[in-house]
Amino acid sequence: MNARAIAFGDYGGWFDQRFGAAPLVRYPTFKSSIGLFLQHLGDRPDGVIVETGTQRMADDWGAGCSTTVFGETLETFNAGRLWTVDLSPENLATSQQCTQHVANRIEYVCSDSIAFLKQFDRPVDFLYLDSLDWWDDPQLQRESQAHQLAEIKAIWAKLRPNCVILLDDNGLPGGGKARLTKQFLADQGWTCVLDYHQSLWISETIVF
Ligand SMILES: C[S@@+](CC[C@H](N)C(=O)[O-])C[C@H]1O[C@@H](n2cnc3c(N)ncnc32)[C@H](O)[C@@H]1O
Repeated sequence: MNARAIAFGDYGGWFDQRFGAAPLVRYPTFKSSIGLFLQHLGDRPDGVIVETGTQRMADDWGAGCSTTVFGETLETFNAGRLWTVDLSPENLATSQQCTQHVANRIEYVCSDSIAFLKQFDRPVDFLYLDSLDWWDDPQLQRESQAHQLAEIKAIWAKLRPNCVILLDDNGLPGGGKARLTKQFLADQGWTCVLDYHQSLWISETIVF
């Protein structure tokens, strides 16, 4: 493991000191996915993280505070930039306010996520999908799953070979937002490292 990944991921390392147990059910998957991202990055300072669905409230650990987590990681480890895309200008304004201390690391994009991902032209090192909300309604659940699948297909050609993919709201009734995306990734031969509230995938083959 490289020095950045160790400093990030050690028990009691930066992630634990900064966030403690605040990420709740996302703790294991945030910590392992970002650790893998830093490990894959080696010494590169130009990592690219793309997130769909920005942080829409301060201290919203029930939703993940992902923009803060990714932005602060990139700043602390000089590891690159985050593109966060959201349909809502209000939510983007809140996200910008919550992450102003690391805004030099973040591009805030107001767009439908699929339209944005289709035209994104950089190789992606870490993809985080957390946009169309999950509701207790079968029709909306199907739409949420279909949306996430369309997102991954839209960005598929731009993923670096060792890209890390993290899918949010997996651990919900009916397979959560990630149900169809997980099937797609499995069909492509990707490996699920951890299937929890979030589902973490890498392209390498690992036999557990
Ligand atoms: C669950 S929240 C994201 C939470 C955030 N990742 C966090 O950790 O705090 C979902 C966000 O997706 C946005 N959204 C919904 N549909 C979208 C779409 N088609 N394109 C882009 N963003 C969308 C919503 O406006 C909302 O801000």
